Amino acid sequence: MKKLLRVISVIFMTLFGLTACNAGSSVENGGDGNMGGGTNRLPVTSASNTLIAYFSCTNTTESIAMHIAAQTDGTLYEIVPEVPYTAEDLRYYTGGRADREQADATARPAISGSVESIEKYDVIFLGYPIWHGQAPKILCTFLESYDFSGKKIIPFCTSHSSGIGSSDTNLHALAPTASWFSGRRFAAGTAQSAIADWIESLGIKFAPDVANFDLASGENGYAPTVMLNSGYEMPILGLGTYSLTGDVCKSSVLSALSQGYRLIDTAHMYGNEREIGEAIRQSGVPREEIFVITKIYPGTQFANPEQAIQESLDKLNVGYIDMMLCIIRAQTT
Ligand SMILES: Cc1cc2nc3c(=O)[nH]c(=O)nc-3n(C[C@H](O)[C@H](O)[C@H](O)COP(=O)(O)O)c2cc1C
Repeated sequence: MKKLLRVISVIFMTLFGLTACNAGSSVENGGDGNMGGGTNRLPVTSASNTLIAYFSCTNTTESIAMHIAAQTDGTLYEIVPEVPYTAEDLRYYTGGRADREQADATARPAISGSVESIEKYDVIFLGYPIWHGQAPKILCTFLESYDFSGKKIIPFCTSHSSGIGSSDTNLHALAPTASWFSGRRFAAGTAQSAIADWIESLGIKFAPDVANFDLASGENGYAPTVMLNSGYEMPILGLGTYSLTGDVCKSSVLSALSQGYRLIDTAHMYGNEREIGEAIRQSGVPREEIFVITKIYPGTQFANPEQAIQESLDKLNVGYIDMMLCIIRAQTT
């Protein structure tokens, strides 16, 4: 039974109908019943509106930028100098190129290439190494190259040992119409979890770009997903099948799957688990791409949940159920 149930539980509170869901756990992961991640991740900021622009000569800042991109699903953009910095250029306190640029208020090293369609980004993480207590001058070139009006800019930096100091606030004057967040310095090799905590503290929630999702072609063939606290990904484009039965149910599921839907929601009570299973098997979509939810109810099903779940497994006949919801009725006062 455990192998067949990838995710089990979630409580539906019923107040004259279903109004909220809460709590869940992964049987295979031995989860602790504390879910809620899926419903909390509201698409306040779409991932496609988030840019992570960074300058990095020896990859320290780049690795932080990559963690941020992984966390936010944002787009990475490397600020590449037209004339690359050699190891010699970077040897500081030698009077080399980097030293000279930092000492010259007018230095604006040229950038190779540009951000495509900067207007579509609302949130910009801006990364750089500390050079003599400040951002490298190529950050000035970058900030002077675009209109950042109304955009949120979140600076981050890496350094050998210095703090961020005034390096972030000194950049404000170069894009005064942007909305600047306090910057943050990271040490080399900072763990993903620390970066995740920092992003969380910014109060900006990131979500896949649902509005622009192309249902017909999918994004790399997949519907957008949210990561549940159980560690499983749940597609957010789903078909609810209440009131669908027989051939209409089968053709609806087949049609939805062919167009990129990857979550199918059913219930014992809907009386259509068999048709849904048939449609999933016929669809040609790999089973692991489809997230199947079904539900059990108070009464005889709650009295013997193992048997109830087994019944749903048998009717669906799709190998496993991704999420099992338990319907309960909340007391009203
Ligand atoms: C010209 C130059 C000046 C630097 N100045 C400082 C500094 O003032 N304080 C500090 O802690 N590190 C300083 N560093 C070290 C870098 O900030 C550090 O190695 C950074 O993480 C490199 O990032 P990157 O690998 O992304 O280029 C300096 C490095 C260079 C090349």
